[in-house]
Amino acid sequence: MAEVRLRGIRKSYGPVQVFDNFALDIRDGELLCLLGPSGSGKSTLIRLIAGLEPLEAGSIFIGPRDVTALEPRHRHIGMTFQGYALYPHLSVRRNLSYPLQVRKIADAEIARRVTSTAAQLGIGHLLDRRIRQISGGEQQRVAIGRAIIQEPELYLLDEPISNLDASLRESVRGELRRLQQTLGATMVMVTHDQMDALAVADRIAVLQQGKLQQIGTPRDLYRRPANLFVARFIGRLRMNFLSGRVAEGEGGAPMLHGDGFSLALPVEIARRLDSARGEIVVGFRPEAVEILPTQVAGAISVVAAGELFHGEQTIELFDRGEEQVQAMLAVPLGLKRGSSAWLRPAPDALHFFDRETGERLADKDATREETR
Ligand SMILES: Nc1ncnc2c1ncn2[C@@H]1O[C@H](COP(=O)(O)OP(=O)(O)OP(=O)(O)O)[C@@H](O)[C@H]1O
Ligand SMILES: [Mg+2]
Repeated sequence: MAEVRLRGIRKSYGPVQVFDNFALDIRDGELLCLLGPSGSGKSTLIRLIAGLEPLEAGSIFIGPRDVTALEPRHRHIGMTFQGYALYPHLSVRRNLSYPLQVRKIADAEIARRVTSTAAQLGIGHLLDRRIRQISGGEQQRVAIGRAIIQEPELYLLDEPISNLDASLRESVRGELRRLQQTLGATMVMVTHDQMDALAVADRIAVLQQGKLQQIGTPRDLYRRPANLFVARFIGRLRMNFLSGRVAEGEGGAPMLHGDGFSLALPVEIARRLDSARGEIVVGFRPEAVEILPTQVAGAISVVAAGELFHGEQTIELFDRGEEQVQAMLAVPLGLKRGSSAWLRPAPDALHFFDRETGERLADKDATREETR
């Protein structure tokens, strides 16, 4: 069993406090992606789990063992470091075999694992080259190889694929996922690329400034972002945001009024709002929008500003005063720049947030969500 439990973690570097009273549960056999912007604490967190950084407070459990006071080498972890940390003057073969030699594993077994690991990662032809004689992407695969060759219960991979070109990146992340599932291993993969996280993770933990913003399945985070930060961070295209005020419409139905639009507000949302304040942000994804040539109820007035070709899809750009809004369509509309149009977001694809706190306003299936 290699579930990981972090409790009450505190960690600073001099005056910079990275974590305070931080908690996280990583489940046995899952691939958890740690996602967050630069400086959010991703590397620090996995270095803490690995035992490479001292804690100021808190405890870390791996399976049933309290490893808080254990040396890194007793934690049974396979790790890749951001920046690889390979031995540049040694061959790929020596880099791969080194962690096994340290553990006094028999030569024949080491040779077997080197061959199979190198084959899995497509670096078999590089075994006798020195690290400094191979490319950055190849080094990255050697670093992954050095973690998987140890056959650990827990993998901690810090940006393992960020330097690979697009096609190699897709194939290596698929390979990592397959490997993790075949071995039933627990894997924590750090990335700042949400597309990698959405593609491979069982769950994603979003970090910002050392605080857990949300943890859940890729689908949870995409469909029900817990706050504006997660809503902005997740999704291939940026979510569109508009702000408005709550008011009563015809027959007393709650409405959200903003510049150039009026949207019906779900009763569950309206009920939670203090009508005196009532400033809320509505978000909708470019992939959940219809574009109409004339005004209808619930549509947002915009001005066409151009088109971006994306192969299967076209992204239509619009202006709304100072703001930009975008929509993703299968068929380009060929709208003339400057012409008027109306966007109608799918009503069940609207996300409502408190403008002041950024928190998601609960909607009706809130009880089903797995996220915290
Ligand atoms: N050795 C160190 N000494 C001082 N401050 C550090 C040290 N390592 C990290 N920090 C600081 O701690 C915070 C978290 O850093 P960390 O490396 O964990 O971020 P990260 O999420 O991995 O970022 P990136 O995506 O850029 O790798 C940052 O503010 C960083 O400047
Ligand atoms: Mg980092």
